[in-house]
This record gives sequence, C-alpha cells and structure tokens, in this order.
Amino acid sequence: MSTLEEYRTRIHENDKQLLSMIRERFSLADRIAEIKRTKGMPIIDTDAEQSAMENFVQTATQLGVDSTFARRLGELVIDQTVQSENGNGLKQSKDQLLKQVVETALKLTSEGKRVTRFEIGEPNFPAPPQAIRGLTETFRKNRIIGYGPAAGLLGLRKTIAEELSAEHKTRIDPDQVLVTPGGRFAIFATIASHVSQLEHVVIPQPAWPAYEECVDFVKGRAIPLSTQLENRWEIDVGRVEDELRKGARMLILNTPNNPTGKVISKSKFEEIIELAQKYDALVLSDEVYDKYVREKSPSILECASENYVYVNSFSKQFGLTGWRIAYLVTTKEKAIQIRRVIQTIATCVPAFTQNAAIAALKKGRREAQRHVNAIMKKVEITCRELSKIDVSFYKPEGSFYVFPRANIENFDSAKFADQLLEHYRVTISPGKAFGDYPAFFRLAVSLPAAQIPSAVQAIGKVINAWS
Ligand SMILES: Cc1ncc(COP(=O)(O)O)c(C=O)c1O
Repeated sequence: MSTLEEYRTRIHENDKQLLSMIRERFSLADRIAEIKRTKGMPIIDTDAEQSAMENFVQTATQLGVDSTFARRLGELVIDQTVQSENGNGLKQSKDQLLKQVVETALKLTSEGKRVTRFEIGEPNFPAPPQAIRGLTETFRKNRIIGYGPAAGLLGLRKTIAEELSAEHKTRIDPDQVLVTPGGRFAIFATIASHVSQLEHVVIPQPAWPAYEECVDFVKGRAIPLSTQLENRWEIDVGRVEDELRKGARMLILNTPNNPTGKVISKSKFEEIIELAQKYDALVLSDEVYDKYVREKSPSILECASENYVYVNSFSKQFGLTGWRIAYLVTTKEKAIQIRRVIQTIATCVPAFTQNAAIAALKKGRREAQRHVNAIMKKVEITCRELSKIDVSFYKPEGSFYVFPRANIENFDSAKFADQLLEHYRVTISPGKAFGDYPAFFRLAVSLPAAQIPSAVQAIGKVINAWS
C-alpha cells in the first residue's frame, strides 16, 4: 500500500471512531434525558451546555486544535444532543396545538353546531367604519394599485411615528418605522434578520408559541425561562442575567402577556432592559396588547434607544386581525436590515390596507377603544365566574386572556379540552401550547358576555367530574 492510501485508510478509521464516540455521546444524553424526565427537570440546561462547551474549547487548546473550529464542532454536537434529548424532531409544534383547537371550532361551526369559543385569540368587534372608508377611498382615487415601498407608505409611517412619539414622550423618526403584514411577520422578520443558527433567544414562559416557532424556523435555540403562578408570573431577573451572560443573542418580552395577562412592572422592565444592554442582547418587545390595560404597561420606546425592536399591530387594537397589518419601531440601521426580510418575502403591505390603517389611527381610535374597553369588562366577568369554580388564576392586568389552573393533581388540560368540547361544546386552549403548563388552560375572552357564565360553569363541571 502506498503511503497516501495508508493515510487515507487511517483517516477513515479515525472518522469511524469519531462517529462511534458521538453515537455514545447521544446515548449518554438519552439517559440524562430520562433522568430529567423522571425528576420533572427541564430538558434544556444551559449551564450544562456551557460547561460542555468550555470542555470542548479547553481540550482543543491543550491538543493544539483550532479553538474556533472546536467551538463550531461543540455547537453542532451540543445542538444535536439537545435534539436527541428532546426526542429527535418529535417536539410537537406548540403553535400547531393552538391552531388545531381553532380549526376544530371552525369545523364544528361550519357544520352548523353552536360552539362557545373561549379559544380564539382575536377581538370580536367590527373594523372601525373609518378604516373601511380609508380602504375604499384608495380604490376611488386609484385605478391601479401597484407595488409600494417595502418599509410601508411614508404617510402611514409618519402617522405611526407621530402617534408613538406623543404617546411615549419620545422622538421617533418615520425611518425607524416598518409596516408589516401582521405582528407575527414583524416578529419573524426581526428574528430572521438577527438570529443565526444555534444562537440563543431567551423567552420567558408562558408565551405565545409563535416566538419559539420563529426561532426554530431559523434554526436558532429558544431558551425558555419559566415563570410560575405562585410567584405572580414574575420574571426572575437573575435567571435572565444568567442567560444573557452566557451570550444570548435576543430576549423577547411580551407585556401585557398572552396568555397570563401579566403586565411587567415598570421598574422590573427597566431593570431587564438595562441588563440586555449591558450584555449586548437585542430586546424584542411585543406590545400588541398595550391598549388592553387599565394602567399603562411599560414600553421599550420609553427606555431603550438602541438594540431594541418594538412591535405593535392593528389586529388587537382595531379588530383588524384578518387585514394583516402591523408595525415595528427600531433604530434606523436595524430597520434597513429588517426591511430586507419584508422585501424578500412580502414585497410590501397593500396600499389600501395601509390607507385604512392611517384612517383608523387618525379617526378610529376612540371607536376602537370603546370595543377594547368592552372586552376588558368581559375579562372581569370571566374572572368573577372563575372565582366560583375550583381553579386558581392570576387576575390579569392586561390583554384579554385568563390562564387558570385546575386545582387537581396531574390535571391534563389537553384531555380536559376534548371533554369540554365533547360534552358542552366549549373550546379552550390547552396550557401546553404556551410552555410546560399541562394543568393550565387559556381562556380568550372575546366571546359575547352572555355566554361567559354558562361556559365557565361547564368548565367547573368537567373539572369536578375529573378522574
Ligand atoms: C402576543 C402576541 N403577539 C403578536 C400577535 C400577532 O398578531 P398579528 O399577527 O395578528 O398582528 C399575537 C396574536 O395573537 C399575540 O398574541
């Protein structure tokens, strides 16, 4: 055998050993996962990951292997290990879980069955007439509706910038504003333009599942930070700092929160933003429920001037969910980066929708807020009714959701949702859609007020009959 062939043969042998050792690593990880599951511990443990990475880099340095290469290899192996611990692609999409309930409700309704819909996260009020006039005006004035700027019409960006500047006592330039086809798109565009493969995104939970979905989509790593009802759903700032110190790329905040209705206190919000700035992490602040409050929810627009993205939407404020129009505010530099995603995927939001949005902002605010206030009253009715049955819950300070837990050991809200639908035709969203909360369920309170007492009573009956 020539020396060349001999070396190649040895390399093949080497690769075999490398792969069999990696295989062994995954088997060990599976055993760790089993222990974590039996002990009820979370699968993701970023401390353990960090120590594994340090070991990788240290050993590489000792062996004279390039440390950048070792880090890349470490990231790959660790990511694959986490996937293996998670059951390799068996991770159920939480977003899908949420959608399934909506689809079931829609199917039953289309079959003519009466369903009490406590699951649907959209306000049930009509579009402001001003918005409809804004829309039809566009067609009256223009026979051709062409492509528009990817950032959005200047008229709308100006209107948004003026309104937000006045509301938050700050100065926002229209070039900092982007109009997007929905808040979900604004969130996706932010994540897609800022998070690279394997980068960490810290998401306090319970959380709207789309965040994790977007992070998964770009192959980043969603790092859940669970919060507890017993602790009034308070975010643990120390744990946020731990994750930021370990190099998380982004932190997502959602106040008022879907599904808990929690509003983060101003002082805690500012403390978290300060930490994010210190560790150079981007903060995505989702404030789409900011009009569903009695007392103002803190805004990123009042405490950050860099490394932030603010998201809001016409969906919840104006009852325009199906119109697909929202906006984000960030620095001018980041706006250019995020605009590329809009341009690539959506081209632009249609001009008629944007003109409707201008009219809604300028003339439809009062009318829409009346509807929003009516929904908040229904949240109160729901809480009053819930206090009569065997559940524990945090009284929401904002949004139109309540996130109760049945006071029963080993309660499974997914099974509960099926029983509730089967026996009483009431739909709810199971807690698992928002994180590791199998005993909780979300009520979205946009159904007619008259339906609330009997629907909550039905919930109480199914809980009482639980075995
Ligand atoms: C917390 C949160 N953020 C953002 C959105 C996005 O809404 P849209 O895409 O309709 O603007 C939703 C919708 O349910 C939400 O619950």
